[in-house]
Amino acid sequence: MFNLILSIIILIFLAGFILFFFIDMMVSFYFGAPFVDTGNNLVDAIVRLGNPKSHDIFYDLGCGSGKIVCAFARKQVLRSTGIEITPSAYHLSKFRNRNLKNAKIIYKNFDNVDFSDGTIIYCYLFPSLVQKLAKRFERQLKANTKVICQDFPIESKKPEQIIKVGRHKLFLYKY
Ligand SMILES: C[S@@+](CC[C@H](N)C(=O)[O-])C[C@H]1O[C@@H](n2cnc3c(N)ncnc32)[C@H](O)[C@@H]1O
Repeated sequence: MFNLILSIIILIFLAGFILFFFIDMMVSFYFGAPFVDTGNNLVDAIVRLGNPKSHDIFYDLGCGSGKIVCAFARKQVLRSTGIEITPSAYHLSKFRNRNLKNAKIIYKNFDNVDFSDGTIIYCYLFPSLVQKLAKRFERQLKANTKVICQDFPIESKKPEQIIKVGRHKLFLYKY
């Protein structure tokens, strides 16, 4: 009897786990940019390119595991915000940044978040999403805001700088 109850509990737990990851995957595929984690060597390069100062307000649009939000928060920026739509990535990001007072993780579609106060914006998203965001950047960002894109550039704007890190590229734009 005990073994039967234990097996049922394990089965329910496993089914819940599989369902959670299925829903999670569907969410990221629906929004068009699955969660792909950025390597640590790239994180350092992104921070160097952003050259954050204490007055800066940083946003990672689709922050995944939150490691870039964490890296900028540790550089003592005024605020480092990650926006994430996928539940598992959001929770991971929230956990990673739990002790950083200047870090904030928002569980939302970035289409519905005002990031116009940002002074450094970063994104690692599919090309179609980058082009869609580029129109918003043009309309809403303040002068001198830096935008850093990983791998997929903004087609309508000339980058100030392009750096190569292994097989990845970082594009820096100034608005
Ligand atoms: C390629 S990952 C990049 C993760 C992180 N920025 C990094 O560089 O390590 C893209 C992330 O964007 C998230 N995402 C895609 N569309 C989104 C949207 N509309 N709003 C919020 N997050 C989104 C995905 O869930 C995924 O975690």
